[in-house]
Amino acid sequence: MSTAPQVTPERIFQIASGFMAAKHLFVANEVGLFAGLSAGPATLDELVGRTGIARSRLRVLADAMAALGLVEREGDRYENGAVATTFLSGEGPADLRPFLKFWDRLSYPTWLNFEEAIRTGRGQSSLQLSEEEERIFLEGVEAIQAGPATALPDAYDFSGHERILDLGGGSGSWLVAILQRYPKLRGTLFDLPEAAGVARPRFDEDPVGERAEVVAGDFFERPIPDGHDAVLIANVIHLFSAEHNLELLKRTRERVPDGARLLLADFWTDPTHTQPTLAALMAGEFLSITGEGDVYSQEEANRWLADTGWSALEQKPLAGPITVLVAETRG
Ligand SMILES: C[S@@+](CC[C@H](N)C(=O)[O-])C[C@H]1O[C@@H](n2cnc3c(N)ncnc32)[C@H](O)[C@@H]1O
Repeated sequence: MSTAPQVTPERIFQIASGFMAAKHLFVANEVGLFAGLSAGPATLDELVGRTGIARSRLRVLADAMAALGLVEREGDRYENGAVATTFLSGEGPADLRPFLKFWDRLSYPTWLNFEEAIRTGRGQSSLQLSEEEERIFLEGVEAIQAGPATALPDAYDFSGHERILDLGGGSGSWLVAILQRYPKLRGTLFDLPEAAGVARPRFDEDPVGERAEVVAGDFFERPIPDGHDAVLIANVIHLFSAEHNLELLKRTRERVPDGARLLLADFWTDPTHTQPTLAALMAGEFLSITGEGDVYSQEEANRWLADTGWSALEQKPLAGPITVLVAETRG
């Protein structure tokens, strides 16, 4: 005799409490809980000394992190788990703390108006970021994108190219990684003046800066810098509507020589926009930021490329949900 599977509301509670888990994590990061445990296990009293947070309140955070598996607790002693050690302690090979700060300080407040964004299609984030917020944004994006940015120079062979243009290049982390790997390549980063102001000092300080130029401007308003035989557009397409993306791809095609390559790195989804899961969630983030952002499928991108003078060549995985679509000029 078969019995019908029991339906429980567990999944709903799990999803709905996601904001509490996220906020616990943001605040634990902000008060330095994981950094406070970087030297090894510590008691709550020792952590009070390292974070400046009262014992009773610190325990709330530390126990939530233990419940969620980022921290391990034995008696009164807490210890970073493997994930926190690697990504949140500040001592591991990667540092995702700037990403958590970005989502806490800029993304989370924007999501408070998500219903408004869905109902009206109006962007809910202040597009006029202060200098400090611009830095938090770009450092956060850089931290999340560290995997894909460092994977690209291996995934795609730039040795046949002479000059690369990074459109909407943000803090410059992608361009720096490419230039470091290909010593004959020259590069241009193009971004809005606020982001260009953050990128410039980085190139001034890095040896690859001798082969790089930072140009400030709006790619919908200003002519896109010409003379580049490779163009990278990373995590920009998702900020805009299909119409704006067609315009951007067309404007880019008009400024490159025949035979140039275009690399589009983004959360390219399956045709239903439901996989990867993170991409389906990020669609809400991109919509909330500009009022027109979304995630798009590889098929949509290929159609836009065909309509704007490009031929899609291939899709390569980079890291996590980020892949790169490679195209070449057509005709
Ligand atoms: C999500 S960030 C991506 C940064 C970088 N490409 C990366 O993947 O790490 C999007 C970038 O596009 C830039 N951007 C947005 N609209 C732009 C425009 N109209 N003209 C030039 N840059 C723009 C933003 O300033 C920001 O640096």
